[in-house]
Amino acid sequence: MAVIKDLLRLQTDIAVTAGEIALSRLTRKRLLRKIPRGEGQLVMLLPGYMAGDDSMNWLRDVLRDAGFDAHCWGLGQNRGFQGESGEAHVEEMTARIIEKVRKISGASGAKVALVGQSLGGLYSRETAMRYPDEIDRVITLGSPTIHPYISDDQNSFVTRIASRKAEAGFRFSITGKQGFLHWGARQPELPMVAIWSPIDAVVFSQSARIPDYIVQLSQAPAIRENLRLVCSHSGMAFNEAVVTAVADRLAEPVDQWQAFDAVKYFPRWSIELVEQAFGNRLFHEFIYADWRQEVVRPRPEIRDIEDDQPLLLKRLRRDHNDFYQLYAMIEESLADGSFDEESDYLLLADVARFMTDYLDRCHHPLEEFVFQEVLKFHPESAHSLEALEREHSKIAKHGALLLQQVENACDPGIKGRPDRLLVRWRKFCETLRSHVELEETVLFPQAMTHIPARAWTIVQRDWNLREDSAESPLSDVGVGEEFRHLFEYLSYVANRDRRPEGFGDNRVLGRYLDSVVFLSEKLDGALERRQSSSN
Ligand SMILES: [Fe+2]
Ligand SMILES: [Fe+2]
Repeated sequence: MAVIKDLLRLQTDIAVTAGEIALSRLTRKRLLRKIPRGEGQLVMLLPGYMAGDDSMNWLRDVLRDAGFDAHCWGLGQNRGFQGESGEAHVEEMTARIIEKVRKISGASGAKVALVGQSLGGLYSRETAMRYPDEIDRVITLGSPTIHPYISDDQNSFVTRIASRKAEAGFRFSITGKQGFLHWGARQPELPMVAIWSPIDAVVFSQSARIPDYIVQLSQAPAIRENLRLVCSHSGMAFNEAVVTAVADRLAEPVDQWQAFDAVKYFPRWSIELVEQAFGNRLFHEFIYADWRQEVVRPRPEIRDIEDDQPLLLKRLRRDHNDFYQLYAMIEESLADGSFDEESDYLLLADVARFMTDYLDRCHHPLEEFVFQEVLKFHPESAHSLEALEREHSKIAKHGALLLQQVENACDPGIKGRPDRLLVRWRKFCETLRSHVELEETVLFPQAMTHIPARAWTIVQRDWNLREDSAESPLSDVGVGEEFRHLFEYLSYVANRDRRPEGFGDNRVLGRYLDSVVFLSEKLDGALERRQSSSN
C-alpha cells in the first residue's frame, strides 16, 4: 500500500518538475538580473540518480552567465549504487569524482565547490569528506540522508527500483550501518548547505535536512545551513528559487559567512503588499522566518515539557534538562575558566556520576526500551534502535574514562592534571549534548509518531515492572547516598534565600549544614507521601 501511495506521490512530483522546466525557459533573464555575480569561482554539478549531465546543463549555463566557472561532472549517467557494498561503491565514485575535480582546478589547484542533486549530493558530501583540502563547499539539493537514523524516510517505490537495478548481492540501502554520516558540526571544516523541500516526493523532507543539532553546533568556517524551498524533487535544478539560493550561497565568502537572507530577492513592492494586506507579522513570522535559517551558536537548551506527553518521555526529557542544568552549573563554577586546586571535585564527581552511572543504569535502558516498543509498531525503525545502542555504549565508554579521571582528581594523593581533566570533561559533555539534541529533535518525535496514544499506558506498565526502572537520583524520592553531595549542593542553591546568618564564612561547611536541613525535610516529605500512598 505504501508503495502505491509513493508511486502516486512520484507522479505528482514529475508533474511539478515538468512545470518547473517549462517556466525555466521564461525566467532565465530575470534570474540573471537578480542573482549575485560570481568571480570565476569553480563549481562542479553532480546529477541525481538515473540522470546525467543533461539534467544540470541549464543550471550550469545560468551559473556561467552569472560569472561562475561551472562544469558538469562528465561521468555520464548516474547509475546509482553498484557493486557489493555501499561503502566500496562510494569509495570508487569519490575517487572518480576527485579526478574530475582536479581536472577542473587544473594548474591553479583552486578549490572547487560541489553542487549535488539528490544522490549526487550524497557523493558530493562523501568526496568533500575524503578530500576536504580540495573542496570549497558543498550544496545539496534534496539529497538523502545526512543521518542514518532517519534515512528510511524516502519514497519506497524509488528505493525498490534502485534495489532491483543494483547488481546482485547488493541491497540498496543507506540506512543504519550502511548510512553515511560523517558530517559533524565541525568536521570537515567547510560549509555545507542543504536545500530541501516540504513537497519533495522522493527524498522526504526530514531525511534531506541537516539535523538541527548539527546546525546549532556549527560555526564558521564549518558552517551548516538548511534552506527550505518549495519545489519538486527532480526539478530542483530548474527552479527559480533554488537557483537563486545556489548562486547566493556560492558567492558567500567562507570566512565571513552570513545566513541566507531571502528578503533581498523579494521585490520591495511585494513585501509591502503582503504587509499591507496581512500586517508585517505574517510576512516576518511565516514567510521570511521560514526561509531564513538562523545560524545559532551552541547553547544548552532547557526545554518546556508539555503536559500531554507520555510519562516515560516526560521523564527522559526531565533527565535531559537535569543534564543541561548540571552542565551549566559546572561551567559557572569554573570561575577562571579551568579546574584548579580550589575546584570542588566532589561536586564534579557527583555530576560526572550522574552523567555516566545514572544515565547508563537507568536513562539509556529506558530509551532503548521505548525504542523496542517503537519496533513493534514500526519495524522499519530497527536501525534507529541499533544506532541508539551504539551511541549509548560509546557514551558509556567515554563516561568511564571521565569518571576515572575525576575520581583521581578527588584523591589528594593522585591529583590528575586539571587541564587534561577539563578537556575530557568538555569533550564528554559535547558528545552527550549532541546525543541529547538528536533524541529531542529526531528520536522522541519518532516515538510519538509510531507508538499510538492508547499504547503508552501498557508501555509504562511494562517498564515499571523492570528492575532498572529507578527514579532519577535528583528527584526527592530517588536521591541516593552516592549523589548526596550533589543533592546537597542543589538544595543549597535552591534554598539560598533561607540561609541562616553566620554560615557564610566557610563556603563548604556553610553549604553542607544548610543543605542537610533542606535535604532531610525533602526526604521526610517523600517518606510521608510513600506511607500515605501505601495505606
Ligand atoms: Fe540516549
Ligand atoms: Fe537521552
